[in-house]
Amino acid sequence: MTLALPPKRTPAENVLATMRQARARDAKWREGKTWSLVYRAGDDVTELLKEAYTMFFSENGLNPTAFPSLKKFEAEVAAMTASLLGGDEETVGNMTSGGTESLLMAVKTARDWGRAVKSIAAPEMILPASAHPAFEKAAHYFSVKAIHIPVGPDFRADVAAAQDAITPNTVLMVGSAPSYPQGVVDPIVELARIAQEHDVLFHTDACVGGFMLPFARKLGYSVPDFDLSVPGVTSISVDLHKYAYAAKGASVILYKNGPLRRHQFFVHTDWAGGIYASPTMAGTKPGGPIAAAWAIMNYLGEEGYLDIAAIVMKTTVKLREGIDSIEGIKILGNPAMSVLSIGSDALNVYEIADELALRGWHLDRQQFPPSLHLTVTHAHAQVADQFLNDLRWATARAKRFSLNKLANSLKLGLVQLAAKLLPVNLMSKLTARSSSMTGIKGADLPQRSAAMYGMMASLPNRGDLNELVLDVLDNLTRLEE
Ligand SMILES: Cc1ncc(COP(=O)(O)O)c(C=O)c1O
Repeated sequence: MTLALPPKRTPAENVLATMRQARARDAKWREGKTWSLVYRAGDDVTELLKEAYTMFFSENGLNPTAFPSLKKFEAEVAAMTASLLGGDEETVGNMTSGGTESLLMAVKTARDWGRAVKSIAAPEMILPASAHPAFEKAAHYFSVKAIHIPVGPDFRADVAAAQDAITPNTVLMVGSAPSYPQGVVDPIVELARIAQEHDVLFHTDACVGGFMLPFARKLGYSVPDFDLSVPGVTSISVDLHKYAYAAKGASVILYKNGPLRRHQFFVHTDWAGGIYASPTMAGTKPGGPIAAAWAIMNYLGEEGYLDIAAIVMKTTVKLREGIDSIEGIKILGNPAMSVLSIGSDALNVYEIADELALRGWHLDRQQFPPSLHLTVTHAHAQVADQFLNDLRWATARAKRFSLNKLANSLKLGLVQLAAKLLPVNLMSKLTARSSSMTGIKGADLPQRSAAMYGMMASLPNRGDLNELVLDVLDNLTRLEE
């Protein structure tokens, strides 16, 4: 892969024009048609974020003594977040680049705590099936063995299975508030009690819920206990670039106390360049996301977040009632806030997603069970009625293809695809690769994503699927042909 630099300078307006053009095929999130990836709270918020971000665009949080402004912003952001999430005087925390980095830090901290405090050389952590893959990434990066436990019929972590999974090597147990796939809150109180009884750490992943559940509760919605006030919870993560509506690259990881957080830090005292210390994964730490997060939290305050949460929750109730009134589909589980999934006992929900795509809606496809994902935000208040109308239409059309018919015609098994990793526009590339493995060729290749997902599910073994996904990742950073 090579691409030479342009031999000469390019006028700034030409560069910007090319970039604007490049956006043409991007998801249409401004119109509220995207149900993931972008959290937006209105033009005033966006304008403030841009100004605050660019004000600290060049600053580097790597050395807080050089930029006391960023040090103050980060400390205040962490402290305000702690006050929202059951923290107290002992609570400490850091900003990170996102949920994944926060979870990586929680797992690294648990590993090093286990090593230092309990002499555990082969650490394990207990992960419900619904836990975010960033935990698997942490297991992979830090050599912590992931012990998987199932979720129950309500999609919440199975407490008895968690209890059974504890061994002398367990360093960490995990629960989500809420989980990404179905938006349900795990039984944090029960899980954390088990952790406490066995003297192991417990992390609540409130990456998606940390800035929504407290406000939903204040508005009178029923929210189970999940935060640092729950006995046994020793750390919690919350993404500011989700429901705190901050600029991307902003999350917070909080610990019960300072001694525990010390296991997160990295120090190297013997470098020719001087003594090097860094609290999180990043070296150079962009000032923009820290500044923008501080700005938005002060701009909105509790009042602003409550107002936005009220709109989001009202929209969510409308969507839940609307979806449940459509014959053939249903909301899975009992979501605690504004993250929902649509499933069906009778219909192929991927067909429904394909039909919705014809009307410009972008929904992520999930597996185990097949379902469609919705993260409801402020932007969806204006489009909820239109979405429900289109969903009714799409469901009626999908009734023409039953899952069984589809399965028979393409000789498919269960749909088993890591759909999050495989957006629809990459499916055709994958389909071409997988056709050599399945023997389905040429005109017989399925054109719609529902059929493509099914075809890939029919690959002879799971290892082939892994290889395919690695191919896709490899291709993503190559030049387009
Ligand atoms: C529950 C949960 N945890 C962690 C993450 C990871 O966050 P990020 O994508 O910011 O790394 C997500 C992202 O959606 C999430 O929903």
